[in-house]
Amino acid sequence: MRIGIHPDRDRAFSDKWRDFLTERGVEVVLLDLLGPQAIEEAKSCDGIMRRWFHIQDDKQSARVILQAIESSLKKPVFPSVATSWHFDDKIAQYYLLSALGAPQPAAWVWWEKERALEWTKSASYPVIFKLTAGAGSSNVVKVETRQDAMSLIDQMFDRGIFPMMMNEYRPAFLPKTRRQAKQRALRFVDAARHIVAGEFPALPDAWWKPEKGYAFFQEFLPGNEYDTRVTVVGERAFAFRRMNRPGDFRASGSGNIDWNPEAVDPACLELAFEVSRKADFQTMAYDFLYRNGKPVICEISYTFVDTAVHSCPGHWDRQLQWHEGHMWPQEAQVEDFIEEVGNRRRGATPQATVPGATVTGTQG
Ligand SMILES: Nc1ncnc2c1ncn2[C@@H]1O[C@H](COP(=O)(O)OP(=O)(O)O)[C@@H](O)[C@H]1O
Ligand SMILES: [Mg+2]
Repeated sequence: MRIGIHPDRDRAFSDKWRDFLTERGVEVVLLDLLGPQAIEEAKSCDGIMRRWFHIQDDKQSARVILQAIESSLKKPVFPSVATSWHFDDKIAQYYLLSALGAPQPAAWVWWEKERALEWTKSASYPVIFKLTAGAGSSNVVKVETRQDAMSLIDQMFDRGIFPMMMNEYRPAFLPKTRRQAKQRALRFVDAARHIVAGEFPALPDAWWKPEKGYAFFQEFLPGNEYDTRVTVVGERAFAFRRMNRPGDFRASGSGNIDWNPEAVDPACLELAFEVSRKADFQTMAYDFLYRNGKPVICEISYTFVDTAVHSCPGHWDRQLQWHEGHMWPQEAQVEDFIEEVGNRRRGATPQATVPGATVTGTQG
């Protein structure tokens, strides 16, 4: 068996995948899926893995390459299309969870400004406004009044909003560092170019795509002091609770985690397993909140911080039996992927090897 891995930015997942695969006697090939030989390199493997991240560069390259490999080369890919087409896209998740009949907060997706503005008349405040992209609570805002909701709708259908520009990420009025001061000065140059030549100003580095042309709101779920993060990898569920930031309704990104398994609500585990099975997710992290005492899914993501999952003292299986011991999510993913690739291989013949690909493992 030969598995190709495209290294991720910080190699947090790819290095561990390589090691766990190699330990199991699988040949590992490092792929360059951003190069001109991407498809040829993928052809030489039985399965392909690439952890892509929620920044725009990864989102635009990984989706198209991996989908071509999975759909047209018919190779198992991690993350599969089913697992990842809705990644870092809360609106896609809203439609997916609705279609699956999975419990989630009441939500309103508006693609037309007039309808969105009309809705603000009947909405009961506070409501939650979110950009469809983003992590760590960066683009999630509580809207207290109709006026504020209308103003956000105006922005979303007019200028657009860049991710990482709301809440605590909003740039300070006065620059705090020399770098910020320099960037501020360069804006005058940008502005002059825009006025004279109609050239667009420079975009931010990582989150360079403005969010525009939609408005997404959810009902505000009061009384949630934490969210419950359940990460399902195949038949295993790892779980912990994330406490809100002090004096804030937002948990994601607070860094204040409780790993006590006794405090995890089994209803969240059941739901997470059920949705993963129905939707055919290889791996999925679920964030649960409570609505009238029952868990609802606030967000899903196929990738996450691995150390938080590894810190879980054990995991549950599908029957909710507890298995003591820390486990890297990458190891669980590799175990499942070897099985998936093995099953596929029994029905198909592997293709020829591409010269030049870097072999780092041994033939299994
Ligand atoms: N509808 C809601 N009602 C109450 N709190 C919410 C709601 N949606 C999100 N939150 C809080 O805000 C945090 C961030 O929201 P989330 O949608 O998960 O965005 P992110 O992608 O930034 O993690 C959640 O962890 C939760 O604590
Ligand atoms: Mg979240």
